[in-house]
Amino acid sequence: GTITVHVDQPTVELPETLYGLFYEDINYSADGGLYAELVQNRSFEYYPVEGWNRRSQTMQPLTAWEKVCDKNEDCSLAVESSDPLNDVNMNYLRLTITKPGDGVGVANLGYDGISVKEGETYEFSVYAKRTTDNQLPLHVRLEGEQGEIASAQIDTLSKEWTKYEVPMTARRSDAKGRLVLLTGGTGDVMMDMVSLFPRNTFNERKNGLRADLVQALVDLKPAVFRFPGGCIAHGQGLDNAYRWKDTIGDVAERKPNWNLWGYHQSYGLGYYEYFLLCEDIGAEPLPILPVGVSCGFRQPFQNALMDQLQPWIDDAVDLVEFANGPVDSHWGSIRASMGHPKPFGLKYVGLGNEDHHTPEFEERFPHFVRALREQAPEVKIVGTSGLGPEIPIYEFMSAQGCDLSDEHYYESPEWFIANAHRFDNFDRSKTKVFVGEYASRGNQLYNAVAEAVYLTGIERNADLVQMTAYAPLFARYDYTQWTAADLIWFNHDTVVRTPNYYVQQLFSVNKGDKYLKNESEFDAALSSESLPSVGHVGVGTWDTTAVFDHIQVKVGDDVVIKDGFTDEDTDNGWQVLSGAFARGNEGYAQSDQAAKPSLTIHETPIETPEAVLTLRAKK
Ligand code: AHR
Repeated sequence: GTITVHVDQPTVELPETLYGLFYEDINYSADGGLYAELVQNRSFEYYPVEGWNRRSQTMQPLTAWEKVCDKNEDCSLAVESSDPLNDVNMNYLRLTITKPGDGVGVANLGYDGISVKEGETYEFSVYAKRTTDNQLPLHVRLEGEQGEIASAQIDTLSKEWTKYEVPMTARRSDAKGRLVLLTGGTGDVMMDMVSLFPRNTFNERKNGLRADLVQALVDLKPAVFRFPGGCIAHGQGLDNAYRWKDTIGDVAERKPNWNLWGYHQSYGLGYYEYFLLCEDIGAEPLPILPVGVSCGFRQPFQNALMDQLQPWIDDAVDLVEFANGPVDSHWGSIRASMGHPKPFGLKYVGLGNEDHHTPEFEERFPHFVRALREQAPEVKIVGTSGLGPEIPIYEFMSAQGCDLSDEHYYESPEWFIANAHRFDNFDRSKTKVFVGEYASRGNQLYNAVAEAVYLTGIERNADLVQMTAYAPLFARYDYTQWTAADLIWFNHDTVVRTPNYYVQQLFSVNKGDKYLKNESEFDAALSSESLPSVGHVGVGTWDTTAVFDHIQVKVGDDVVIKDGFTDEDTDNGWQVLSGAFARGNEGYAQSDQAAKPSLTIHETPIETPEAVLTLRAKK
């Protein structure tokens, strides 16, 4: 084939902002994910919630906690709220020891265990007090299968709520560790905000983020970072909206909320941490604010009454002051008190997420635009066009004078390929476009290639499309609500970059300055005959850097292969699936949730370790 590049013809400038990220707390992307806190339910605030998470209804104030007593001892655990730390952090634990022994207390199991690493220092902290005259100590331990791994001691607890902080260094690694808090003597101990962080967070920040996950973002060289949602930005009902003011200040004083994906948000990763993250990864922050209407896809639909809209508008304007205001402004001083006197330099504010084009929305939205234009003229406004391909409210966003409008689509790979020319004929007099969420519903090579095809069309139209972001960004293995496709999969200590990730990286890291007009012509399609055979490989490792569009997989008898795999080529137990196994131990293929455990190739999540995967190229 031939490719002709016309270097002498008019070109499109590729904006600096073209390749960004969209981060939402879905699939445990915040607590249990990016937020490096290792204790689950540290503040005893869990309760059953709605959502697509299989754990939603089973959540309780003592989720992830268990009593530690041997048969000669006795104690009880209760979650109370009559003597809280403060009025937003109501629940705390009461540990009552009626029959003391060598060590009686409580343990936190993290998210299916706490991964402890030899040589790593962990920062433990807790608010605690005793209610008896006995001088009760607190022994803090990290335990693994072989017993104690690290320990620290708080000699005696005060009778007032007091914050205690002690570091511990692990002598051994254990992927399934637990945090154990023991005391001696008879009496009552109260505890809240029980916390354990690795010292080694990204940039060693306190209350920081997981270094390996942030590194996966840095390696994408993102120019823009859209957060915190997505659906959670406007929430399920007005009480459930993400209100950024609840998420700043001392972590013990942040008002937690439930997450409409079916779990809890401690807000330990809040707006201040988001701005710091943007600084760390070199991306422009793009916060999304709710506009006084709740998620149009979820009951109950709610609209703030017009005479109660002002606090929602204030949130938008005040956020700009929090990010950019001088240290003597109200919100700027709070930013400074948290450790960042220098402004964050916020340039964009997003209004709404996939909001339905109702009369109530039309009535409310312009108030936000007007207030921002008047009080924060330095920011560009990103409106919301909705879930494509129809993008129902792009015209409305244009009429409102938004600088950009954010359109989303989750479609088939074929749709992305067929729509590589989507923007060729868009009216250039209208608002510029942010493709703020898209994915071709799969993590196979074919999906990644389809997304790459689509991005070529975006580059050709980059005078109009100024920003893009794949979605969702993260998924914690076995804690997912969105399984169709996610960019980065992870568990407690493994990070898996999908084929789609490498396409994002390819485009972002190698972004040019200008798009050159080009034509290509090919005579023949690539033949599968040219694929090499990879031979036989055991679970957990393989050693090929080849990328295949078809791979045959044979699994043990006990592994059920369900929908999502093409079985027409089944031959003596061989199944054919599309997938990309591209990077040694990081290979990953997904076709559906049920089959995934047998096909995820990394250390621990294989639930059928006795099954041997054998891979070979299809002939
Ligand atoms: O990315 C997952 C969800 O898809 C987002 O929360 C929402 O904006 C979209 O519908």
